[in-house]
Amino acid sequence: CNQAADPEILLAWYDIHARDLPWRVPPGADLRADPYAVWLSEVMLQQTTVAAVRKYFLDFTDRWPTVSDLAAADDDAVMAAWAGLGYYARARNLLKCARVVARDLDGRFPDTEAGLRDLPGIGPYTAAAIAAIAFERPATVLDGNVERVMARIHAVEAPLPGAKETLRGLAAALTPAARPGDYAQAVMDLGATICTPRNPACGICPWRQPCRARDLGIAETLPRKTPK
Ligand code: ADE
Repeated sequence: CNQAADPEILLAWYDIHARDLPWRVPPGADLRADPYAVWLSEVMLQQTTVAAVRKYFLDFTDRWPTVSDLAAADDDAVMAAWAGLGYYARARNLLKCARVVARDLDGRFPDTEAGLRDLPGIGPYTAAAIAAIAFERPATVLDGNVERVMARIHAVEAPLPGAKETLRGLAAALTPAARPGDYAQAVMDLGATICTPRNPACGICPWRQPCRARDLGIAETLPRKTPK
């Protein structure tokens, strides 16, 4: 019989294996991440890979180190710096959001999920990610990686998109009150490096013991998707 997945086990794995990403505060550093850096990276990562985002993130933060610097930038300069990331509506919303934060909020991002969601271009995922990573709120951060990890740990065979709310509930139940920002990033790293869509590395997974899909030999087949 499996024991329930333990967030502490994943956090201990993250303490050793966290990816070194330029927008990230390494675990154990006892620093909070800069909300501007978290917001910028999460918007860039919405439709673009971590590998591609790295240099854009460094270029943006070099040229515009704070949200107020970005808010004061010329539209054309920001659009040119965005070139190559695609989905240009994201860049327009990025500027809109920076200007609201700079003008109306004194350059400070709201520190709650609800406050963040009121900003242009910030949807449920991005609001939860910023609330957890920058403000240590125990928000439920649900992206494709997290859905896959939850579907496998709990052997959820119901297909997406129908199973999304089930997966959200399971993700919420596992989110710890302590270190929610590190925990959110740990699940993402697990999904990106071990619990991958194809050929998951179950043998070295910190959650192999409680993983019900691994037990059943169906990890790679999850999450299922309703055919279009
Ligand atoms: N993908 C999207 N956001 C991420 C983050 N904060 N860390 C790792 N991968 C991510």
